[in-house]
Amino acid sequence: MVLTVVGLGPGDPELITLKGMRAIEAADLVFAPASRDRGDSLALRMAEPWIDASRQQVIELTLAMTRDTAESGPFYAAAAEQIAAAFAACAETTRQDAIRGVYLLLGDPLLYGTFAAIGRALRTSAPDIAVEIAPGVTSFAAVAARTQMTLGSGDGRVAIVPASTTMNAADLQRLLADFETLVLMKAGRALPHILDALDELNILDAALFAERVGMPEEEIVWDVRTLRGQRRSYLSLVIVQRGR
Ligand SMILES: C[S@@+](CC[C@H](N)C(=O)[O-])C[C@H]1O[C@@H](n2cnc3c(N)ncnc32)[C@H](O)[C@@H]1O
Repeated sequence: MVLTVVGLGPGDPELITLKGMRAIEAADLVFAPASRDRGDSLALRMAEPWIDASRQQVIELTLAMTRDTAESGPFYAAAAEQIAAAFAACAETTRQDAIRGVYLLLGDPLLYGTFAAIGRALRTSAPDIAVEIAPGVTSFAAVAARTQMTLGSGDGRVAIVPASTTMNAADLQRLLADFETLVLMKAGRALPHILDALDELNILDAALFAERVGMPEEEIVWDVRTLRGQRRSYLSLVIVQRGR
């Protein structure tokens, strides 16, 4: 029994890997995370072209997309149980052990992905399910490609940091003392704080904003001053580059 964790890339269907696409097509079971608050699964929508619901079982796993681990933990544990139960049921119905499943997620699976916690629970509860990873194009790689921004060259240091609503000018200054390029992930809700901090340091021009890259609603904003007072969706990031 094998579960392949497939990074679907940022949203552009052309940016899924062949390995990921083939794993989806070959799967008996397709698992996709769905947000408790929004209900639907963006990963599932993205992977639709490669899924055949007439021969594959599609299972949405409800997760709490929150940084509060006490709140999200039980959802991850329940998701691991659902995965284990689906594998067991499929093995029993088909009377064979070689069941293949995929777990879908955006970007690369090992970068702030939902599978890390599920995988830990699964290793304990269902050690007979082997886990493989099909890496994916990260959101910031897609932004860099889209904008032709070199993220790092020579000795340039690059940091990937989850933004938070407590991020302030001192935090940014500290990071920019150590890194030439900062990729601020999860920037939607934190955007006003990020912009205040950039303004305080007088480096608004060093930042680039990108939302839903690779999707039909993609937006790339070079002049982040125009975003003052706005909060954006979860699928947003800011790249700050010293001396840009
Ligand atoms: C939970 S993390 C997942 C990251 C993902 N595994 C990756 O490799 O990019 C979610 C964050 O990734 C970024 N992100 C993911 N997809 C994006 C997209 N299409 N456009 C812009 N940012 C995106 C946003 O910063 C978002 O808050």
